[in-house]
Amino acid sequence: MNFDVNTFRQEFPILKSKNHFNKSLIYFDNAATMQLPERVIRAMAGHLRAHNANVHRGIYGLSAEAEEIYESTRQEIAQWINARASKEIIFNSGTTEGLNFLASQFNTLTAQDEIILFIQEHHSNILPWQRLNAAIRVVAMTASGDFDEDDFRNKLSENTKIVSIAHIANVLGTINPIKKIAQMSHNVGALCIVDGAQSLSHGPIDVQDMDCDFFATSAHKAFGPSGIGFLYGRASLLEKFSPYHVGGGIVERVAFDQSPIFHAIPTRFEAGTPNIVGVAGLRASIHFLRTMDWPAIQSYQEQLKNRLLEILKRDSSIKVLKPDNQRCGIVSFVHNHAHPHDVASIFDSEGIAVRAGHHCAQPLMKALHVHGTVRISLSTYNTLNEIETLSIALEKINRIFTHK
Ligand code: ALA
Repeated sequence: MNFDVNTFRQEFPILKSKNHFNKSLIYFDNAATMQLPERVIRAMAGHLRAHNANVHRGIYGLSAEAEEIYESTRQEIAQWINARASKEIIFNSGTTEGLNFLASQFNTLTAQDEIILFIQEHHSNILPWQRLNAAIRVVAMTASGDFDEDDFRNKLSENTKIVSIAHIANVLGTINPIKKIAQMSHNVGALCIVDGAQSLSHGPIDVQDMDCDFFATSAHKAFGPSGIGFLYGRASLLEKFSPYHVGGGIVERVAFDQSPIFHAIPTRFEAGTPNIVGVAGLRASIHFLRTMDWPAIQSYQEQLKNRLLEILKRDSSIKVLKPDNQRCGIVSFVHNHAHPHDVASIFDSEGIAVRAGHHCAQPLMKALHVHGTVRISLSTYNTLNEIETLSIALEKINRIFTHK
């Protein structure tokens, strides 16, 4: 393995910081948001210093520079995820907006139509669909917390219009077999939508190979800034869609006595001044993803995850909520004697940042019969030493809550 985590960490200024208990930061909340490498921070500051102007409007050089950065980012994303063309990429504020945009396009569905969702979904991939008239059918997971192919097959029918699923589930870290799910959806004539919030940072994405119809994601889950993301959609489908927001920059003609004529895709869907500095940051984060040695990194991530699972599973006070290792480095657990918030607070006192609660996945919590979990979500800059510190913090938790 030739991945050197210490060199990799040098890129991330925040990892040198101390938390409010004056403990070195151990950041294990990467599924909520990921830290940014210096080059992404610099790209945004550099953009504001040297190229700041609006896009799609200016007749002067500075605006052309901003526009070049904006549109070339679209091309680079299309290449990175293997879209057929850059017009299949729509910039937005992130996964939530992408899914809301998609749901808005299906407001003609009736109660006879069906949308298939999955028990592990984040609220962002539930609530937009609940606003429609269509019936929602929910696919269970297997006892091991994995995709339940039999239940999915049973729920698919000629009434299914949409299947919407997370590529990687945000609480249990389950990696769903999108290619198979897309194929099964297409066999009944349904569209396959992928919530890619958690997967952009896990290696190259190939939307053509997965054969999904849409893929929504956020930059801040993959070394980029918050408030910017993108939606991939098949051009043939996007061309049938109407703008979700309307405003400046998306029209060829506006008149009080005639209907508007909108621009072609993707501009038609980007009303108003976009998050241009966010796009500059997203561009740098995509460059960063492209430089990563993925086979070496994936093997390193596997090592981290296995050690974490080993530590959690040997602790008799802990129940890991998907104990097998068929997942990415997102691990949720409950402590038999301590509330998830208490566990997270004690971790915080040791410098360790984790998320605790329902993780915006209340239906999953209900299915698991828990109110909340402690979630550790690893990234490439985490180390085995950090996991050992977590192990010591767990001993402290056990001492406090079991009065030993
Ligand atoms: N979706 C993010 C998470 O799972 C915020 O934490």
